[in-house]
Amino acid sequence: MRIGAVPTLADVQLYTAHPGSGLWRLADEQGDDAPPPYWAYQWAGGLALARHFFEHPDLVRGRCLLDLGSGSGLVAIAALKVGASSAIAAEIDPNAVAAIGLNAALNGVRLAVLADDVLDGPPPDVDLVAVGDLFYASDLAGRVTGFLDRCLAAGIEVLVGDPGRPSLPLSRLRPVAAYDVPDVGMAGGGGRGAVYAFGAKQP
Ligand SMILES: C[S@@+](CC[C@H](N)C(=O)[O-])C[C@H]1O[C@@H](n2cnc3c(N)ncnc32)[C@H](O)[C@@H]1O
Repeated sequence: MRIGAVPTLADVQLYTAHPGSGLWRLADEQGDDAPPPYWAYQWAGGLALARHFFEHPDLVRGRCLLDLGSGSGLVAIAALKVGASSAIAAEIDPNAVAAIGLNAALNGVRLAVLADDVLDGPPPDVDLVAVGDLFYASDLAGRVTGFLDRCLAAGIEVLVGDPGRPSLPLSRLRPVAAYDVPDVGMAGGGGRGAVYAFGAKQP
């Protein structure tokens, strides 16, 4: 992995994959069930949320945040950089858990990692849940939506960053900002990621 600045976010650096990283070795070691190494890349949804926090630090300043589906840890790291009082990165991929720790140290921030699937559990004890690019599969999107509903019912604010994946529950989302950010596989840029407020189901 190479240390590199995050596109559109000069203040954050991450360990980033490149052709020589040999990430295929993880699949060799872990077999066919190995999750894709999503943590090694920056996704448009997470980039949009991270950028949004830098543009509007008041959203996170002094607040406790859960970064759901944290991947590289980017969203939690960005929130801490602009003044969040604490951040929890929830992630089910053990390789991502390791990467989050390395990326947090690289950026000089301390966060907690929840290496567990929280989606079927109770809402966390936080002020804000941030969800970067977690609506990429319909079954997962349904579980995420159920979890976010419980968070809303507990009085927790929920923000979603996403470039418009097919399973995004648009009827539940109010757009609040959009940013020019590259997505995975778009080396030349040209992508766009939106930030949404997740709201209650309308009767
Ligand atoms: C597309 S990546 C996005 C990563 C990061 N949020 C970003 O925007 O850069 C989705 C991440 O969600 C994680 N994930 C999938 N299901 C999850 C679950 N039930 N709980 C926590 N993390 C999950 C995956 O392992 C993966 O790292």
